[in-house]
Amino acid sequence: MRRRIVLSLAIMLIWDWGSLVSSHHDYKDALAKAIVFFEAQRSGRLPSDQSIKWRLDSGLSDGSTVNVDLSGGYYDAGDNVKFGLPMAFTTTMLSWSVLEFGRRMGNELDQAHKAIRWGTDYLLKATSALPNALYVQVGDPVADHQCWQRAEDTDTPRTVYNVSPANPGSDVAGETAAALAAASKVFKKVDPDYSKTLLDAAGKAFDFADRYRGAYSDHLSEAVCPFYCSYSGYLDELLWGAAWMFKATHNSSYLDYAQALGANAPCDTFSWDNKLAGARVLLSKGSHVKNDEPLAEFRSQAENFMCSVLPGSPMLKIEYTPGGLLHKMNASNMQYVTSTTFLLSTYAKYMKHLDRTFTCGSLVVTPALLREVAKSQVDYVLGDNPRGMSYMVGYGDKFPQHIHHRGSSLPSITINTQRIGCDAGFQSLKDSNPNPNLLLGAIVGGPDKFDSFTDDRNNYAQTEPTTYINAPLVGPLAYLASSFN
Ligand SMILES: *[C@@H]1O[C@H](CO)[C@@H](O)[C@H](O)[C@H]1NC(C)=O
Ligand SMILES: *[C@@H]1O[C@H](CO)[C@@H](O)[C@H](O)[C@H]1NC(C)=O
Repeated sequence: MRRRIVLSLAIMLIWDWGSLVSSHHDYKDALAKAIVFFEAQRSGRLPSDQSIKWRLDSGLSDGSTVNVDLSGGYYDAGDNVKFGLPMAFTTTMLSWSVLEFGRRMGNELDQAHKAIRWGTDYLLKATSALPNALYVQVGDPVADHQCWQRAEDTDTPRTVYNVSPANPGSDVAGETAAALAAASKVFKKVDPDYSKTLLDAAGKAFDFADRYRGAYSDHLSEAVCPFYCSYSGYLDELLWGAAWMFKATHNSSYLDYAQALGANAPCDTFSWDNKLAGARVLLSKGSHVKNDEPLAEFRSQAENFMCSVLPGSPMLKIEYTPGGLLHKMNASNMQYVTSTTFLLSTYAKYMKHLDRTFTCGSLVVTPALLREVAKSQVDYVLGDNPRGMSYMVGYGDKFPQHIHHRGSSLPSITINTQRIGCDAGFQSLKDSNPNPNLLLGAIVGGPDKFDSFTDDRNNYAQTEPTTYINAPLVGPLAYLASSFN
C-alpha cells in the first residue's frame, strides 16, 4: 500500500516535471477546431446549434430533379459539389477516429458524433433506392468549377448522378458500405435504432458493390474525372467494405470474403482512392476471432505498409521534406500526411494491445516509434516546420489567409445578402486581401517537397482544404490531446 503511494507520487512528480520542461501544442484546441471545420462544409438546412455563422442553408432542393430528397451532406473542399466517394471516405475516417480514440475526446465526442451523423444522414438518403440505384453525386462539377460562387447562391446544374446494376460502381458503393458500417459501430450504444438503420443500409450497399462489379468512372467519366476518378479500381473498396462489415456484424463470412478477394497488391498510400492499407490495418486486429491465424496475412501486409512509410526504414517508398513532413504528392499532400498519421497511431495501439514489435530490415519498430513519427507529423502541421506556419486555419498565430475556398473567400451571405453570380465571384478569387470568413480548423493542402508554401488563393494544390484531410487527423489529435494536457 505504502509502496504504491510512493510510486504514484513519483509518477506524479515525473509527470509534472515532464509537462514543465516540454512545451507542446494545444492539441485539445486543435482537436476542437479540426471537428468544427465540418460545420462549414455542411450542405442542406443548417441546425440551430450551427456555430459557424457565416454560412446559411444551401442545396435544399438537391435531388428534386429525380424526385428524391438529397439535401444535406458535405461539400468536399472549396467548391459546391457533393462528391459521394470522398464524402463516404470522410465519414468512414471520422467514424474510425471515434472508434479508436473517442474515449479520449472528452467534450469533443458529441461534436464528432454530429459530424459523422451529418454524413450518414445523407448517405442514408443516397442509399434509399438500393438495390436499383445508389446516388453518388449532386452537382455538375465542370459547371461548378467554372464559377466562383457561394454555396447559398449556386445556380449551376445540380445534376444527380447514380450507379446502378447496368452501370455499376463497386468503388463508391463499397466505400458507402464502409462508412455506414463503421458509423453503425459508433452509434451502437449511443443510438441503437439509428445504428441498426445504418447497418441495414451498409449491408445493402455492400451487396450491391459486390454483385454488380465495376468502376464508377468507367461510365460517369467527366462527371467524376479528374476530380474523384477511381484510379485504384474497386478491389480495395470491396476489401475495405468487407472489413467494416466484418467489424460491424462479427459475421465471419465477411472475413472469408476479404481473404478470398485476392486484393494483395503492395501499397504505400492510403486515401479517398486507395483503401488497401487501411483495410489491412483494420483486419490485422483479431479481437473477434479466437484463432487469429487467418489475420496474420493482413498483419504482415499492414507491417509492410509501415515499413514503406517509416523514416529510417530500408523499405521506405515515400519521401520526407527537409523539414520532416511526409511527402507523397505535390497537390493536396496533407491528405497523405493525415491518413498515414492515423494508421501509425492506430497500429501503435493494436501493437501495444498485442504486446508486439516487428522489424523493417534492421529497424526495430515499437509502438513508441510509430507514435513518435505520428506526433512529428501532427506537430509539423500545427507549426513546427521551417516556415513556422500552422497549416490549420485559425490555429496558432500564423496560418494561411488566402485559402482556395469559395465560401471562405466571398463575402458572407449574412452580410452581403445580394446574390453573387458565377462570374462576379471571381473578383474575390483575385482579391489580394485575406479571406473574410475564417474557415476555422481547415487543414490545407500544404507545402511542397521543399517545405515551400505560397499562400495564394489560386494555388489550390497548396491552399485548398478538404474534408478527407481533416477527418483522419481527428483520431491522432484526440490521442495527443489526452496524452499531453
Ligand atoms: C453472414 O453474412 C452472410 C452474407 O451476407 C449471410 O448470408 C449469413 O446469413 C450471415 N450469417 C449470420 C449468422 O448472420
Ligand atoms: C512539384 O513541386 C516541385 C517544387 O515546387 C516542382 O519542382 C515539381 O515540378 C512539381 N512536380 C509536379 C509533378 O508537379
